[in-house]
Amino acid sequence: MRFPTRRLRRLRKTEKMRSMIRETTLLPSDLVCPVLVQEGIDERVTVKSMPGIQRLPLSDVTGEVESIKGAGIPAIMLFGVPSSKDDAGSSAFDRDGIVQRAVSEVRQAFGDDIVIMSDVCMCQYTSSGHCGIVRDGPGRGGGGSPAIDNDPSLEVLAKIAVSQAESGVDVVSPSAMMDGQVSAIRTALDDSGFSDVLIMPHSAKHRSVFYSPFRDAAECAPQFGDRSTYQMPYTNAREAMQEIESDVEEGADIVMIKPALAYLDLVAEARRRLDLPVAAFSVSGEYALVRAAAAAGYVDGAQIALEMLHSIKRAGADIIVTYFAKDVAGSLLAE
Ligand code: PBG
Ligand code: ZN
Repeated sequence: MRFPTRRLRRLRKTEKMRSMIRETTLLPSDLVCPVLVQEGIDERVTVKSMPGIQRLPLSDVTGEVESIKGAGIPAIMLFGVPSSKDDAGSSAFDRDGIVQRAVSEVRQAFGDDIVIMSDVCMCQYTSSGHCGIVRDGPGRGGGGSPAIDNDPSLEVLAKIAVSQAESGVDVVSPSAMMDGQVSAIRTALDDSGFSDVLIMPHSAKHRSVFYSPFRDAAECAPQFGDRSTYQMPYTNAREAMQEIESDVEEGADIVMIKPALAYLDLVAEARRRLDLPVAAFSVSGEYALVRAAAAAGYVDGAQIALEMLHSIKRAGADIIVTYFAKDVAGSLLAE
């Protein structure tokens, strides 16, 4: 046989040929756009560490959603920045809380023409900046980390989810990494008549420095210690699969892996194991690195964003939460 019999370059011969054998297509309908809404402000606040991202006053939220919808993106994920924090994180489940008000305004303005997702966590709302209730006395997690009381935190997370459901949210997305958070929320939602509200937990959420820009954006940095007694170590993949599997057992409708780009092995493995939809959260640091490199003129930011997002889709994600959503949606439709 003459060499080479196999010439894969034949498949790349022309643009039309390449388009026929394309394996991965990213559509605006795959994307979720995060929306940060802050209580008590009248004007948008620029997030320094995330150029192009702003915290919105409540009055700007429906306008923002209008432009997200206009880009063909079907879903938003709301994060709230409250004006008051306390030990119990009570502004998180206030009927008039900032997320609750944003959800009901968006629902009122757009009906079912937008999927509203909301973050369910305590860290923006607790004085400690931790994702659960802090128990008195030092914790055993090292580095000055406090003890975070798992089961009492579940009650709070369930209350947050129910209050968001009352405001009209479609999907609650618990990000606290407390054990049992999905079943606690499922039970509370069902008991309150919200059996049609979906749960998309941050199932395998790693303790990651990729979140640093977000902590600046949402004012949710821990005031002491770190999150390593609840968020996963980035060294562990089998443990991530156990986190995902227990969320499925507890009733998750969609599982999510976070961050995305440095964790594509986990996205692919979750895709291989499960028939549920798999989501990936491309976090603030992934966005900020690209923006910084693009601003320095080292890379073409738009092209890098497209390559990253296609890679996340190729790895197996059905849904991608990304701060690039609005920027890339237009070029996806044009492809
Ligand atoms: C807090 C929360 C974080 C993110 C989403 N929810 C930060 C953290 O856990 O410290 C990260 C989002 C991002 O970086 O884009 N529960
Ligand atoms: Zn949190």
